Amino acid sequence: MKNIAVFASGSGSNFQAIIDVIQAGELDANISILVCDKPNAYAIKRARVAGIPSFIFNPKDYTSKEDYEKDIATELKSKGVEFVVLAGYMRLIGDTLLEEYEGRIVNIHPSLLPDFPGKDAIGQALDAKVKVSGVTIHFVDKGMDTGPIIVQERVRLDQFETRESLQGKIHSIEHKLYPSTLQMLLTQGGEIYGKKARTN
Ligand code: GAR
Repeated sequence: MKNIAVFASGSGSNFQAIIDVIQAGELDANISILVCDKPNAYAIKRARVAGIPSFIFNPKDYTSKEDYEKDIATELKSKGVEFVVLAGYMRLIGDTLLEEYEGRIVNIHPSLLPDFPGKDAIGQALDAKVKVSGVTIHFVDKGMDTGPIIVQERVRLDQFETRESLQGKIHSIEHKLYPSTLQMLLTQGGEIYGKKARTN
């Protein structure tokens, strides 16, 4: 069973979905640590309830991304983390973590990439008045939501779609798609997607 780290910045409903499937025996993984860059994030409470240790940091306490990522990497290594799951983590991953984990970091994004990368993908989709948007799970590289795509699922926007209604549709897709995709990646090593996840 692989040790994974989940990174989150906010509510952590995707983090919760992953906790729930692990507890239900449907995902063969152990969440060794939550990494969170927002000391007031609700995700931290979810970790506490589930008995998962947290590494909480404030980027402002560090002089550079390299400095805080070195601390994160030390934490991950001390916990034997083999795979990193970004679940609403609102920061670009830098060279320090990529050097340790590239090919073994995945992210979920609330649009059909390459459309609407970056912040507020849901607002961007509504502003663009698209009829279809969706969810993308991809490997993480240096860029902003640019890494190799693993899976996408579409969602249709209604005529009177609001931010809340679209967010709800996207979350309900994410909460199923992320756990099932992680199960495939962690048990099959990711080869079926053309980019092999390293498994050392
Ligand atoms: C999710 O919808 C995720 O796709 C998005 O943040 C939300 C976090 O929700 N991620 C991004 O926008 C990354 N660029 P959650 O905290 O309830 O899991």
